[in-house]
Amino acid sequence: MTDVTGASADVLHTLFHSDQGGHEQVVLCQDRASGLKAVIAIHSTALGPALGGTRFYPYASEEEAVADALNLSRGMSYKNAMAGLDHGGGKAVIIGDPEQIKSEALLLAYGRFVASLGGRYVTACDVGTYVSDMDVVARECRWTTGRSPENGGAGDSSVLTAFGVFQGMRASAQHLWGDPTLRGRKIGIAGVGKVGHQLVRHLLDDGAEIVITDVREDAVRRILDEHPEGVTAVADTEALIRTEGLDIYAPCALGGALNDDSVPVLTAKIVCGAANNQLAHPGVEKDLADRGILYAPDYVVNAGGVIQVADELHGFDFERCKAKAAKIFDTTLAIFARAKRDGIPPAAAADRIAEQRMAEARRR
Ligand SMILES: NC(=O)c1ccc[n+]([C@@H]2O[C@H](COP(=O)([O-])OP(=O)(O)OC[C@H]3O[C@@H](n4cnc5c(N)ncnc54)[C@H](O)[C@@H]3O)[C@@H](O)[C@H]2O)c1
Repeated sequence: MTDVTGASADVLHTLFHSDQGGHEQVVLCQDRASGLKAVIAIHSTALGPALGGTRFYPYASEEEAVADALNLSRGMSYKNAMAGLDHGGGKAVIIGDPEQIKSEALLLAYGRFVASLGGRYVTACDVGTYVSDMDVVARECRWTTGRSPENGGAGDSSVLTAFGVFQGMRASAQHLWGDPTLRGRKIGIAGVGKVGHQLVRHLLDDGAEIVITDVREDAVRRILDEHPEGVTAVADTEALIRTEGLDIYAPCALGGALNDDSVPVLTAKIVCGAANNQLAHPGVEKDLADRGILYAPDYVVNAGGVIQVADELHGFDFERCKAKAAKIFDTTLAIFARAKRDGIPPAAAADRIAEQRMAEARRR
């Protein structure tokens, strides 16, 4: 028998004692027949049932998977609180390479585990899971969102995610330049996948000039073909962030875009993009503020997707969702105002406002 005492102790310590902990419930799930191993973490149900996606990923260890579930579910509490949703934060991770082990039987087994929580956790897509997977999970579990329109879902969430990021940019422009329009502004987008692609359209409609980059040549080509005017491409993110005269930088690829290497050389005055976890480590938000760069917190401006999936539970209505996502404009402005009042970076102000909302709900 393998001795796992040390590893389990680490997990228990994280859960019960560290700053990353304070979770209400963590469930370990196993179905040997299908190879399912999953962790469902419920950080908070103060505002309502925990909502967050399912990440399917080949973690290097089970401890790493638990740590990711704890971190991600905590992040969802803040995101849902700032989006004004009546949902707490939760997240699930399925351990393994989706290319190798994802099967109908595994997804159905996973659905049964989510269902066993009786609605305390509502699931959705994340890295490694797709709308078609949620359609399968939903056969066993009614607390499943991110389904296809044919199965009562809202489909691709990138449409409203991009719309929300656009609102965050308009609010940033309002705060910094006294006018929400992006007309004539030069905006750099790193990553023109599902969200970046939609964002280009909003920005061109508003009269912005756009610079893009992506590691996938086909993604860049598609944008340049669709928009022969108003968009130029540069070789990589390194070049993009150093572009002369850049007004806004929109990280729309992977996390960690704002780090010790990138922040000192940014030419933009505003950072506002869709990518999750843009700040590589604590303290980067202060480095941005010290350089006079306005940072629109990622989890606030990219909440359009979660607003969309939350709406599925009430019978999806696109216009109702769009109206909610439009409020990201006011929320972002309120964060900048709070940051100014308290003399703290916007990322810290967002955390304070979210914590306040959760604390008020707990007292009720
Ligand atoms: N889709 C949503 O609804 C949603 C919601 C909230 C947050 N997000 C976040 O927004 C980001 C983009 O999501 P998406 O759905 O558009 O994903 P996507 O996979 O469709 O697009 C990401 C794009 O980034 C490119 N890319 C990867 N590494 C890069 C690099 N080093 N430099 C430049 N480009 C690179 C990829 O080639 C791809 O085209 C992700 O961080 C995601 O977690 C998405």
